[in-house]
Amino acid sequence: MELAYEETTTSQSITMKGGDGPLSYAKNSSLQKGVVDATKEMMIHAIADKLDMEKLCSEAFRIADFGCSTGPNTFFSMQNIIQAVEQKHRQTNPETALEFQLFFNDHSSNDFNTLFKSLPPSWPHFIAGVPGSFYGRLFPKSSIHIGHSANALQWLSKVPNQVVDCGSSAYNSGSIYCTGTESEVAKAFASQFENDMETFLNARAEELVNGGLIVILMGGIPDGISLSQTAIGKFYDLLGSCLVDLTNKGLIDEEKVKSFNLPLHFPTAKELKALIERNGRLCIESIDEMTGQVKRVPALPSTENYISLVRAGFEVLIKKHFGNEMVDEFFTYYGQKHLESSFVFGENAVDNTLISVILKRI
Ligand SMILES: C[S@@+](CC[C@H](N)C(=O)[O-])C[C@H]1O[C@@H](n2cnc3c(N)ncnc32)[C@H](O)[C@@H]1O
Repeated sequence: MELAYEETTTSQSITMKGGDGPLSYAKNSSLQKGVVDATKEMMIHAIADKLDMEKLCSEAFRIADFGCSTGPNTFFSMQNIIQAVEQKHRQTNPETALEFQLFFNDHSSNDFNTLFKSLPPSWPHFIAGVPGSFYGRLFPKSSIHIGHSANALQWLSKVPNQVVDCGSSAYNSGSIYCTGTESEVAKAFASQFENDMETFLNARAEELVNGGLIVILMGGIPDGISLSQTAIGKFYDLLGSCLVDLTNKGLIDEEKVKSFNLPLHFPTAKELKALIERNGRLCIESIDEMTGQVKRVPALPSTENYISLVRAGFEVLIKKHFGNEMVDEFFTYYGQKHLESSFVFGENAVDNTLISVILKRI
């Protein structure tokens, strides 16, 4: 069996670009903020509706954000949850104020310093960083009241081995992501997602208190549509074509490109629901999908800003696989190609969906 991947790329701990410079995630996450904003009302209502404060009755209310990155979106998410919990608490217990303990989780290589330096001033909450993969246990049993994860669970724990194995029938030649829905490649990505979600759900089921909730917000695809037909797929095509062009110019090693795949999977809502049900550890309170989320982002970023968003999200991954030397050149080339092709995210493509899930431990 001939393997075309390296050990370092099998188990992924890919983070967003740290710091607070012009190309950082902290300064380039407006598209992801659109997801937090688009679901704010839904989440506040769900917490009002589903959270049983009397059952949870605790002096310290503990909330964890899984895949928090470097801010600021995680602060908006936490604030939305706190607002909803406080409203609910006032109804049953108007005399006492709740104390909140907030846990920010991400890979240990995440730039937690930037996150903590940019905490909202005079936030009256207890704060802790929790480094480590959310595909595993991070908290003691029955300790978390609300878990939350936005824009993070589409990141797989690794690229499935078969798709970068030239000898496998699931070898993904000619693309950096899973383009179809029926192929062996699609099965490999779906199976990796299933295993990862299973691990995620098992860990959270242990960590949540009885009656605790978990809110998942993640990108998806409509039923019957392949990722390549969607806005995200069109963007990955452009990214992949830049790697091929730079290989043809002799700037990147062809073998490196052949062994590169994005460790990402965007499920359908139906697929996600089926695997949460199969896991059976948490009860589905609601699962919804929205379309047109990209169009609802109040101000779509300008082309220049969009190129920075791409770099903030993918620089660490590209650097890890291809090395430091080509990174500036790659993103400069990507920027040029983006401008020359007049690429507009979402144009001439099927909209990706935004899947929102509320689960309860009972
Ligand atoms: C696109 S960012 C989203 C950040 C933030 N939630 C938001 O909405 O802006 C995805 C984050 O998930 C984190 N992530 C991905 N896989 C992870 C894992 N297995 N464990 C912990 N964090 C992970 C990445 O490091 C990254 O910071």
